[in-house]
Amino acid sequence: MPQPPRIRSPRRTAPTSPLPRPALPGPSSPPPRCVPLLPPPLRVASRTEVWLGRRRLTYFGGCDYFRFSVHPQVLAAAIRAAQQFGLGVAASRRTTGNHPLYEQFEGELADFCGAEAARLVSTGYAANLVVAQALAHDFTHLLIDAGAHPSLHDAATFFAAQRLQFRAGDTAEAVRLQAKLPAQARCLVLTDGIGATDGAAAPLAALRAGLRPETWLLVDDCHGLGTVGRTGRGSLELAGIDHRQVLHTGTLSKALGAFGGVILGDRNLIQRVTTSSPLFTGSTPPPLPLVAAAKAALARLRTHPGPLRRLHAHVAQVKQTLWAAGRLERITPGPICRVVPRDDLDRKQLTERLLKADIFPSFLDYPGLPSGGAFRFGLSSEHTRAQLRALIQAVTGD
Ligand SMILES: Cc1ncc(COP(=O)(O)O)c(C=O)c1O
Repeated sequence: MPQPPRIRSPRRTAPTSPLPRPALPGPSSPPPRCVPLLPPPLRVASRTEVWLGRRRLTYFGGCDYFRFSVHPQVLAAAIRAAQQFGLGVAASRRTTGNHPLYEQFEGELADFCGAEAARLVSTGYAANLVVAQALAHDFTHLLIDAGAHPSLHDAATFFAAQRLQFRAGDTAEAVRLQAKLPAQARCLVLTDGIGATDGAAAPLAALRAGLRPETWLLVDDCHGLGTVGRTGRGSLELAGIDHRQVLHTGTLSKALGAFGGVILGDRNLIQRVTTSSPLFTGSTPPPLPLVAAAKAALARLRTHPGPLRRLHAHVAQVKQTLWAAGRLERITPGPICRVVPRDDLDRKQLTERLLKADIFPSFLDYPGLPSGGAFRFGLSSEHTRAQLRALIQAVTGD
């Protein structure tokens, strides 16, 4: 099998168009091992480029907002941890799978986010489920943002509570719904901190101000942690609220470029998720080298403010230009641009322009996107000015 090219390979393959089709199996090919339901595989070519077959394209897909997944110091931390500790603990942390690295990193994450405590779990998706399992009987009513990530909708099913849905980001509707609930209702609002498909910030301060004071918030901050707020502490920092009555979840797989999930909150919450979730009790924590990688990424984020500043500048520049050209519905703070094609022809022309500019056309059909899908461009601190200009030109057609 041909080996994927190394990261930072200077080799460039001459652009070809259109997108290469997957090779059809010939008479001597082995039978396919799986039904091809997934898009074609991509391989890293450099921090901001991917190989799609033999074509090298600028990449605005994914959520590796600082490209820590290929950062030399982050990779070195992962390799050191693998050599020192092995790949994983092969046991639940409630049995024999606890490890000092987990506890160290939990302390650092809690400190960074301004929470009393943190608990690592296997993934960001699992973080929401673990919280829901642990607090299944604490609430009588859930108010869920209709645009929330599937993991929050899934988590909602674990609560023994009545579920009501409000329009994405619509505080007024959430407040109206709550006003109709009995005075003794114990309410939890579930929302993404930063929308996965459009970078929109949840109106956390307005929710806090408008909802009854005893209401709790479950904020999935998978896209906000590390990327928004003056110091990257996430959507709570952006909204200017603290962790009081907030169940805060996140991932190590986006801004930190690694893998794993995290729950942040007060000590009581962390004690409850540790002792009362079958998912936490019955599953293996994230692999140690990936925790070490996330730890190194977080340390860099804290000591090197340059990439966060660059990310914020890239977000402002690209979004203002695309919005002024009528290609964005609104300017949002997260590092994600959602460009909805006007029709099939527009989609085709956008795809062609992106490919002509050697940009991977990241058109997705994913929960939370308008039916029929949309282009989703993830911006990173590491994209060059030329790459950002090329993206803007390809999208606007200028
Ligand atoms: C808003 C949101 N929540 C949760 C997740 C799941 O995180 P993970 O990939 O770490 O399971 C994602 C990932 O795509 C996400 O976008």
